[in-house]
Amino acid sequence: MLVLGVESSCDETGVALYDSECGLVAHELYSQVKLHAKYGGVVPELASRDHVRKTIPLIQTLLEKSHTQKSQIDAVAFTAGPGLAGALMVGAGIGRALAWALKKPAIAIHHMEGHLLAPLLETPAPEFPFLCLLVSGGHTLLVDVQALGNYQVLGESLDDAVGEAFDKTAKILGLGYPGGPALAKLAYQGNANRFKFPRPMTNRPGLDFSFSGLKTFALNTLNSCQGSEQDKADIALAFEQAAVDTLRIKCQRGLQQTGHKQLVVAGGVSANQVLRDSLQSMVVKNQAKVFFPRLEFSTDNGAMIAFAGYLRLARGESSDLSFKAKPRWSLQDLT
Ligand code: KG4
Ligand code: ZN
Repeated sequence: MLVLGVESSCDETGVALYDSECGLVAHELYSQVKLHAKYGGVVPELASRDHVRKTIPLIQTLLEKSHTQKSQIDAVAFTAGPGLAGALMVGAGIGRALAWALKKPAIAIHHMEGHLLAPLLETPAPEFPFLCLLVSGGHTLLVDVQALGNYQVLGESLDDAVGEAFDKTAKILGLGYPGGPALAKLAYQGNANRFKFPRPMTNRPGLDFSFSGLKTFALNTLNSCQGSEQDKADIALAFEQAAVDTLRIKCQRGLQQTGHKQLVVAGGVSANQVLRDSLQSMVVKNQAKVFFPRLEFSTDNGAMIAFAGYLRLARGESSDLSFKAKPRWSLQDLT
């Protein structure tokens, strides 16, 4: 069974082929970073227009490079939400229409479920059940994953997602878009222990998060000093340490609360090396294991959508012709 996956929820066009026998066959990614960079962030209308331009040629390249004929595709999975409405409509429209033309089933995929399942593409792969930390530009979720489609959200951000906090703090520091990787790079030049940022909501019970205060703390700290390159690097490091520490503390608490011995971490911020190292040493102390996707599948990609589509199709699921893109869609609704 060969599944084509199409991802278009934000600023990356991702397509991939997943085969039930051979696993991931091929994937292609087109990033719109250059398009949005001069605006300092994603412009939704431009994102939609670029997905229109790029999706079909990217599918064509994918098929050519993997020596696959359209007729070999058994199903088409597409991201139906959450994300930018117009951007979702493009990928969902193309994916749905292609399935219709091929007379094959289409499967609407939840973008965050795609992220959640991405680490299962790796070896060794985690096994259900596990605790999952999802950290992206739009979401920060701690999820008790019992099985495919059985998700209990234990904690979430009450304000900014952690990726959003990285991006906004990067902007304050004068770094370009995308901010997260730029901030992480600058933090390597920073002096530890110069500034101490708070670890929000860690001194009270519970698994929810709040990250919007950290960017304000960064702004106030920047205003309190000269704003030299070294000051900025020190602030970047202090911010990164606070965000990572907060995530580590909540993950440890989540492992203790659920009794899970496997922690799965996914979404764009899971590409952060300081976070990876911190969670790795935390799980060792807790006799647990941590699983990440490979770096290119931490951020948005088509492989996770093709894979999620395959898993759902294998359970006999598919979506009808009148699909609906869902810009807002809770992961918990899948349960
Ligand atoms: O999952 P993703 O690609 O898209 C969404 O679903 O939102 O996540 C993008 C987020 C952005 O906020 C970006 O700044 C952040 O992930 N990010 C990082 C790193 N790489 C990407 N944040 C911190 N460190 C990184 N290395
Ligand atoms: Zn994402």
